[in-house]
Amino acid sequence: MLNNLKLIFSLFLMFIAHVFGFSDAPENWQLGFQDPATPIMEGIINLHHDLMYFICVIFIFVSWMLSRTLWHFEKHQNIIPSSLTHGTLIEIIWTVTPACILLLIAIPSFSLLYAMDEIISPAITIKTLGHQWYWSYEYSDYLNDDGESIMYDSYMVPEEDLILGQLRLLEVDNRMIVPINTHIRIIVSAADVLHSWAIPSLGIKCDAIPGRLNQTSMFIKREGVYYGQCSEICGINHGFMPIVIEAVKLPNYITWISNKLGE
Ligand code: CUA
Repeated sequence: MLNNLKLIFSLFLMFIAHVFGFSDAPENWQLGFQDPATPIMEGIINLHHDLMYFICVIFIFVSWMLSRTLWHFEKHQNIIPSSLTHGTLIEIIWTVTPACILLLIAIPSFSLLYAMDEIISPAITIKTLGHQWYWSYEYSDYLNDDGESIMYDSYMVPEEDLILGQLRLLEVDNRMIVPINTHIRIIVSAADVLHSWAIPSLGIKCDAIPGRLNQTSMFIKREGVYYGQCSEICGINHGFMPIVIEAVKLPNYITWISNKLGE
């Protein structure tokens, strides 16, 4: 009885969190984006909305023109076809208009692209390595008394070990802990084959390539737990190497770092 009540209460809490909380993990039947936690992801969502405007206008215009054409030039309606083959004015219009639309799209698109590329004097550098089939994280900014940096592996929690409320195929044993409101540089590479380090809420998708260092950056605006997955087919357990990032306040991060260094 008590267990049932506990279960109902947890489900109720999960429902409340679902309605009022941020969505930093995929949901059933989801169509849109997860909620943004970085300025870059906000930019991506804004660009998507800007493009949606043009897509809607073009879709309506083309459908309208197509249906008008089918209606008016159908053979019963238009028994004697015109011999007209081309017209200079209309051709100029239908070439220049799409070119102008492309230009309008290119301006915000390029500014976002270069913003994503920019790495603003990072306070912390974290290295993430893709392995078959887990991630490992290295905080080489800090050294303990033996001169060793913080390094640990992050494996998926298997289905039989999940506890109530944990997300299947998304939970890991050791999360990446990062501070909020801090410029963080992420160095991405792989130890064996291609992987890709991707977290939708942070707007990051960075290929992990053996023998090559890729870099990306993040600036997380709110505390939270962000879920991502490997996004490059890397072998049979490709679907079982999720990424979990826990963003905490700076003092908590410092506590965590010093505990890690003490281990
Ligand atoms: Cu690692 Cu897919």
